[in-house]
Amino acid sequence: MKPIPLILDCDPGHDDALAMILAAHNPALNLLGITTVSGNGGIAKVTLNARRVATLANIKVPIAEGAGKAILGAIEEASDIHGESALDGAELPEPKIELSALHAVDLMAKLIKDHSEPVTLVATGPLTNIALFLKMYPQLKNRVAEIVFMGGSASRGNRTPYAEFNIWMDPEAADVVLRSGLPLTMCGLDVTHQALVTKEIFTALEQMGTPLSSTIIGLLKFFAKTYDEVFEMPDPPLHDPVAIALLIDRSVVKSRHVNVQVELSGPLTRGATVVDIYQRLGEPANCNVALDLDFDKFWSMMLEAISKAAIKA
Ligand code: RIB
Ligand code: CA
Repeated sequence: MKPIPLILDCDPGHDDALAMILAAHNPALNLLGITTVSGNGGIAKVTLNARRVATLANIKVPIAEGAGKAILGAIEEASDIHGESALDGAELPEPKIELSALHAVDLMAKLIKDHSEPVTLVATGPLTNIALFLKMYPQLKNRVAEIVFMGGSASRGNRTPYAEFNIWMDPEAADVVLRSGLPLTMCGLDVTHQALVTKEIFTALEQMGTPLSSTIIGLLKFFAKTYDEVFEMPDPPLHDPVAIALLIDRSVVKSRHVNVQVELSGPLTRGATVVDIYQRLGEPANCNVALDLDFDKFWSMMLEAISKAAIKA
């Protein structure tokens, strides 16, 4: 089976950092490039973090900076969860990976144009860059195999009672993606809240005993502390790598193909994904929604990628 070509659009972010490692160090995937979008932190912070993580974890692909605000201009940082740097908790190396001279959207277009087969776009931050790409390069839409995004929820939210952070940050961008007609897979909080960093996982990381695993332990301990303070969740959910894991092995999640729309105007519900599990609205299904996770399969992929990244470094 040929490795799946993909571009990762992210806002590192603790869980984004682990998604980068999984995307770069699994043989089933061919990571063509990384693009950044403001979300967990401002665009300068998340872009520096992406370059630092790439240096730390031996990820040698082009990295390009993307949108610094949502389509309608919103900017917010999730420093209550990810800290002031948007990736607090461990000493990270000065970046050795140069930043591409291209804007994220133009790098996406170049990589897709230059690749011999359709490319999968994976988004683990707000969908601003993905929406801009679809609008600016409509002629390349047929070269996109699928869009897989971590975001939304079929139940409650985390940034507001009903909106998940990535979608809440840029609901207009999510609307463009949901109406694109492309194959879509949504990894919302329903499935990502099962990807918990448990004590057993920390023990497995400690047993690795590499400089990379100990840096990751520092990052995840910070993430665990803030998640417990804000959401009373002692074991933090590692949201973003779920979107990568399902590309490696679709059986890592159980999904349903249903209609998903996003609320754009509700004063209390703006940014909520309306996941019509039982098709009550009678609208056509447009999105695979991942709902259940195979915890053991997920973590064996994740831990294997971390140990492989350490060896290459
Ligand atoms: O709601 C969780 C999502 O928001 C994750 O992608 C996390 O990194 C933040 O971007
Ligand atoms: Ca993210």
